[in-house]
Amino acid sequence: MSKCIITGASRGIGLATAKLLISRGHQVLCLSRTPCPEKEVSWENVDLQRLDENQDLKGKIEKFLDGDKKFSLVHNAGSLKKDSTLNLSSSQFREVLEVNLVAPLILNQMVLPLMGEGSSIIYIGSTLAHKAVAGACSYVSSKHGLVGLMRATCQDLVGRMIHTSCICPGFTDTEMLQTHLGADPEIVKSVAGGVSFGRLITPEEQARVVEFCIENPVMNGSVIDSNLGQIER
Ligand SMILES: NC(=O)c1ccc[n+]([C@@H]2O[C@H](COP(=O)([O-])OP(=O)(O)OC[C@H]3O[C@@H](n4cnc5c(N)ncnc54)[C@H](OP(=O)(O)O)[C@@H]3O)[C@@H](O)[C@H]2O)c1
Repeated sequence: MSKCIITGASRGIGLATAKLLISRGHQVLCLSRTPCPEKEVSWENVDLQRLDENQDLKGKIEKFLDGDKKFSLVHNAGSLKKDSTLNLSSSQFREVLEVNLVAPLILNQMVLPLMGEGSSIIYIGSTLAHKAVAGACSYVSSKHGLVGLMRATCQDLVGRMIHTSCICPGFTDTEMLQTHLGADPEIVKSVAGGVSFGRLITPEEQARVVEFCIENPVMNGSVIDSNLGQIER
């Protein structure tokens, strides 16, 4: 049994990952603004947009770890806003970067002094970490940056025997996707039609990829697409 800290395990891919890891006998700490509905998961109320102001978090993480040095940190929380290069304000840009890119750096620096051999840092990127679509400027920029942060993590941790990787999910059936697409079932159908299997991915499928990356140091430094085969047009 080992321990895992997951950002944004209150729903979606993070919650599915927390449930899977709990079912395997691990202990999980969720960092999010709303509680994790899974009773066995410990929860700290954390706004990743304001992590610099959170002076108590390191102590709470230390308490959760209770001296254990082999653990995982999963940077799963994400913020997706509709915005454009043409009109995105610098303050709105910073808000998304804080959650998607700056918070992972701050959390890394918080936990790395506590991390020992066999630990891992897993980033959740996106298909939009490799390519762009219109109307998602801050998200696309932050997810591209996250791949860079993962690669820098890999290089800066040489010799520590801590592995890292960035998983890039495709269209996964969560609140984030539902909110982004809106209520029209035809839009959801057309998005699913862009996947070679003709369906959305489940959060549980993504959770199994996260578990695989946690357990396999050979994945160190890698960017993994988990998109069920997106159809290129
Ligand atoms: N769903 C997809 O199709 C898809 C595709 C590619 C990549 N992804 C990535 O997968 C990851 C998980 O997304 P999801 O689809 O599971 O989304 P989701 O269901 O909307 O969940 C997002 C999680 O992020 C947390 N979060 C957001 N802002 C936060 C903040 N300021 N402070 C703390 N926590 C915050 C939320 O927790 P609280 O609201 O409780 O704070 C929530 O638990 C994200 O990084 C996303 O970019 C998803």
